[in-house]
Amino acid sequence: MAVEQLLTDEEQTISAGRCLGRLLSPGSLLLLEGELGAGKTTLIRGIAAALGVSQRVQSPTFDILHEYDGRLPLFHFDLYRLVAPDQLFEIGFFDYIAREGVTVVEWPDRLGELADAATHRLLLEYHPRGRLLTTSDFPADSMLKL
Ligand SMILES: Nc1ncnc2c1ncn2[C@@H]1O[C@H](COP(=O)(O)OP(=O)(O)OP(=O)(O)O)[C@@H](O)[C@H]1O
Ligand SMILES: [Mg+2]
Repeated sequence: MAVEQLLTDEEQTISAGRCLGRLLSPGSLLLLEGELGAGKTTLIRGIAAALGVSQRVQSPTFDILHEYDGRLPLFHFDLYRLVAPDQLFEIGFFDYIAREGVTVVEWPDRLGELADAATHRLLLEYHPRGRLLTTSDFPADSMLKL
């Protein structure tokens, strides 16, 4: 069942990430869909907080991968600039997702059919009052404490 949540400001997006981040476990592969500026990286900041990451999550401009140390390692892929799926081999995507960490992916459409390996997906959309978050692979009450 899909659950929609209105996020009225950046803080709420971070808070939603924190709620969802608590539910991720080693081997989780979360795909974040949403157009430019939809709040994907912001939400990942909350996930990172939930995983006990103390480093600041960067919006990768040229880097496709950022790795953070937390209670679990967090692998943050931003595939916006990925040209061909073959590049995933070069950057070691498969080695990362096989590790005991949490992998989150911005621009997962670049994964093609590899996206089938996802354990969780979410969508962020622009909304007149902020952003709309749609989740379907998390418990319906995941964000009760936003
Ligand atoms: N719920 C919200 N309401 C309004 N603004 C928000 C909300 N959540 C995040 N933002 C703002 O949206 C902007 C873009 O956020 P962010 O960089 O996380 O988007 P993104 O989807 O990662 O973008 P990109 O596609 O460029 O990677 C930031 O200025 C952030 O503060
Ligand atoms: Mg981003």
